[in-house]
Amino acid sequence: MELVETVEELNNSLRKHRNSIIGLVPTMGYLHEGHLSLVKKAKKECDFIVMSIFVNPLQFGPNEDLDRYPRDLERDFDLARQAGVNVLYHPNVKEMYPSEPLITTKVSNKISNVLCGKYRESHFDGVTTVVAKLFNQTKPDRAYFGQKDAQQLAIITQMVKDLSFQVTVVPCETVREEDGLALSSRNVYLSEEEREQAPILSQILNEVRDGLIPRKWNTPDEINQYVRERISTKPLAKLQYIETLEYPNLQATTSLYDKQIIVALAAYFGKTRLIDNILFSAEGESHVPNDDEIQIASSHRNRS
Ligand code: PAJ
Repeated sequence: MELVETVEELNNSLRKHRNSIIGLVPTMGYLHEGHLSLVKKAKKECDFIVMSIFVNPLQFGPNEDLDRYPRDLERDFDLARQAGVNVLYHPNVKEMYPSEPLITTKVSNKISNVLCGKYRESHFDGVTTVVAKLFNQTKPDRAYFGQKDAQQLAIITQMVKDLSFQVTVVPCETVREEDGLALSSRNVYLSEEEREQAPILSQILNEVRDGLIPRKWNTPDEINQYVRERISTKPLAKLQYIETLEYPNLQATTSLYDKQIIVALAAYFGKTRLIDNILFSAEGESHVPNDDEIQIASSHRNRS
């Protein structure tokens, strides 16, 4: 595996592979099995895999964790190499933004003023700007994104459509710890007690899904109210939002069973903000997930 740090080096490495199918896995590093599952899927569908590691200042708000965002390039290098990444692209901020960008992408309020976007002003403008740059720098055939960040996935898919990027966006299932907690680089922030209570998020979402299958819920409000009540039983969890929307267009809906919906939430455990979601469509309710779809992390547990 080659480590490259500049756009020029990236281009030199990719030049001889332009006739192959190039897969891009964008990350902010501190890799866990969620990231590596994206690589695994990319390996099945592509000939040559580029993983980017870049903690993008543009997508962090002034009171967010940019400075303390966990980083460990040496360990990431080993994990990416073992997973079969061909080129690890690790630009610094100066390389990605040689000067203050005067032209950036803007996500419509229609899809950014809900879920996480409502609480993280201009976050998705920052995400789409850096992902657009990564697409232009790498020119991948396929790019892999996790459903754990479902709003991000929906927005990037929309960007590819609206700005005519020649790339296929590939959604990837959320990888979880055995107790259900979705893997996240931010899980390392959790204290022991917080970590014990954090699986409540996926437990509640599973309860919601269990109610959706027999059509127990009548309205999104009923679901949201149930989640609020259940989460209030955990003293360390502070719910930021719970929303039940149509997916992927992220619009309000009154019906639950005639289109795909997302039930998504964010909650604080101390200073750590965790997100999780489920996607549900009544049509697919008899679908039995295969091994690729149910992903349980088997190692790197302490790294989450
Ligand atoms: P990061 O949080 O590092 O995540 C990189 C990719 O890994 C994203 O597509 C995310 O959805 C996916 N991912 C994270 N946790 C996952 C899990 N438990 N299961 C499956 N996939 C998971 O998301 C970002 O970085 C950034 O916003 C980025 C797209 C790189 C732009 O800066």
